[in-house]
Amino acid sequence: MLIAGNWKMNGLRADLDVVRQFADLADTHKGAVDVAVGVPHTLLQAAAECADGTALRIGAQDCHHEESGAHTGCVSAPMLRDAGARFTILGHSERRQHQGESDADVKAKAEAALAAGLEIIICVGETEAERDTGKAEAVVTRQLTASLAACEAERLTIAYEPVWAIGTGRTPTVDDVAAMHGRIRSLLTERWGSGGKDILILYGGSMNASNAGELLAVDNVEGGLVGGASLTEKAFAPIVEAAAGLG
Ligand code: PGA
Repeated sequence: MLIAGNWKMNGLRADLDVVRQFADLADTHKGAVDVAVGVPHTLLQAAAECADGTALRIGAQDCHHEESGAHTGCVSAPMLRDAGARFTILGHSERRQHQGESDADVKAKAEAALAAGLEIIICVGETEAERDTGKAEAVVTRQLTASLAACEAERLTIAYEPVWAIGTGRTPTVDDVAAMHGRIRSLLTERWGSGGKDILILYGGSMNASNAGELLAVDNVEGGLVGGASLTEKAFAPIVEAAAGLG
């Protein structure tokens, strides 16, 4: 199990205390659940220092697809690694929607992140209109197939995040989660063979203290990508504890 926080565009140096609390949480539950948090670029180095020597994994939320160059305002994967990131989230729906990232962009970023020694969490998920018109599985299949770079299974994590569940308080039924995670699992085993069975598939979208136990118990759900409920230890700890309870 892996519980990964996604701080999005939240967090100042004053919030490093929360990173320290997450590090304690990660150490307490070490062996039962891995704990990670994707922080804004500005906090990477300081957060990595807070997590140093603990079980907490610090990561980023995006990267540029090139190593360096004339890209004003962008941050490359080697820069993230240099600042202390161990992984990066890629292809989050907020970036696909608001920054216009395509599957090909996500794949190029994945290649850059892997080349820099980062692990990657690739996000996929359908919009509400796509679900309502019966296209959810086709959309996720296309995103997954087209966004995945060639890599060892150990360095890859997938997050299934229905766009309509992100930040809305709404979640799919456990049957819908089971069906989509099962579909993702078959795509992974088609591509990686038996290694595809070990790739973690996280659920993301309004996961919180009240629904985590139920969502994490679904077949092929091996953790969560948590936005809003990862901003405080009070909200995040019960999710980590629920995951630890399920082993
Ligand atoms: P949420 O965000 O938990 O606030 O719904 C999840 C995500 O976007 O990764």
